Amino acid sequence: MMTSIIFMFLILLYGYVAALSERELVATLMTGYNKEARPVRDPSKPVTVSLDVTLAQIISVNVKEQTMTTNLWIRRRWRDEFLTWNISKYDNIKTVNFKSELIWRPDIVLYNRVHEEGWSETPDTNVRVSSTGDVTWGAPVTIISSCVMDIARFPYDIQRCPMKFGSWTYNGLHLNLVNFTNKGDTVNFIRNGEWTLESFGLQRNEVVYSSDLSVTYPDVTFTVVIRRRSLYYTYYFITPGVIMCFLSLLGFFLPPDSGEKLSLNITLLLALVVFMQVVTDRLPPLSTSIPAIGTFYGVIILLVTFSSALTIFTLTLHFRGPYIRPVPDWLRSMFFLGPPKARVTVITNNKYVKHSPQSGESEETESAQRRGDLLSPALGRIEKVMNHLLDDEKKMKYKRGLEKEWKILAMKIDRCLFVVFVLALIIATGVVLGTA
Ligand SMILES: *[C@@H]1O[C@H](CO)[C@@H](O)[C@H](O)[C@H]1NC(C)=O
Ligand SMILES: *[C@@H]1O[C@H](CO)[C@@H](O)[C@H](O)[C@H]1NC(C)=O
Repeated sequence: MMTSIIFMFLILLYGYVAALSERELVATLMTGYNKEARPVRDPSKPVTVSLDVTLAQIISVNVKEQTMTTNLWIRRRWRDEFLTWNISKYDNIKTVNFKSELIWRPDIVLYNRVHEEGWSETPDTNVRVSSTGDVTWGAPVTIISSCVMDIARFPYDIQRCPMKFGSWTYNGLHLNLVNFTNKGDTVNFIRNGEWTLESFGLQRNEVVYSSDLSVTYPDVTFTVVIRRRSLYYTYYFITPGVIMCFLSLLGFFLPPDSGEKLSLNITLLLALVVFMQVVTDRLPPLSTSIPAIGTFYGVIILLVTFSSALTIFTLTLHFRGPYIRPVPDWLRSMFFLGPPKARVTVITNNKYVKHSPQSGESEETESAQRRGDLLSPALGRIEKVMNHLLDDEKKMKYKRGLEKEWKILAMKIDRCLFVVFVLALIIATGVVLGTA
């Protein structure tokens, strides 16, 4: 104590002789300084620390791990009542800079920080002290903060990532943390290719952690609101999906005879599943909500599957096989097929009737009858064969008619399904893009 007084006295004396240098100023300030104690003369008073954060860059946002890596410039300002001097005594030195480890520092930490290695929160940068005792301590830091991502609207999502700064050990009675500005600073923000910065606001809270309600812990929570730039996903994932859907639409116009209808749809289905897989690889395996792009692919896969099923249905209608039946009346009226084809009346095979022998008695008739008797078996056979042929012809014609009817029905159903499919596609795309 004595030596320090003498030292001070000497310094004061020297001050009269010549203005003191920065070196002596720092030496004086550090003499007897205790960096463990809060820098207040009245212990009942809190140290007011104001916090100011500049968002310099968003380095990455990891949706899968629910973390955000940012580059921040954190500035803390407080008044140290033991670091004051009279500038006229010190050659008009208004501020001095020195190592921050030499003085008391508030233990402001980011509550939701994700530590990768070590603890060191901030580099030991210099502090700037003004003659009134105002200390400014700034440091650039790269921190990973945890952030609950909501992927329900992925890839048109907006994420709100809070960063809660507060003292880890001092309560509000000892350290009063306040915000320096009314919103975060983004003047030096470096544009990010994946995200656009919507806002960087802040809020000061006082939280009660213990059972003692009078003891509050103040914190300043900065909230980074970012919107995903969706061009990448729209270009690489949504557009191919829509294009494949249009291809699948064209599938309805393929003639069933070509046999390509089904293979086209199955190929599209495979491609869609692969695309969906690529998208889901980028997302956390959350079961709380299905992202918009997942819904989109789900709906398209469903539609294409449905379309394949319908293709099978129309193919079975188109190729009726040997057991062809007429189109039922209700289907006929539903698709305006017109009146049904008349059923074939099959000519009986035993239509040939033998003439009775006692029809004529004359010679001529007798001879004629003898001729007729000779001829009639042959004629009968010929007639029989002819009737057979006619029957077959009629049957074939009828069957072809039925087939044609079924084919027309299949075509009409195909057209209806096409309209249904187009509507479903438009609605699905609209709903998905509507969330953007
Ligand atoms: C600073 O020192 C000068 C003389 O060196 C004195 O006149 C002045 O009152 C002092 N100021 C304070 C605030 O102590
Ligand atoms: C601190 O933030 C609040 C909003 O949370 C704002 O009303 C207030 O003006 C800010 N204080 C300063 C000093 O800007």
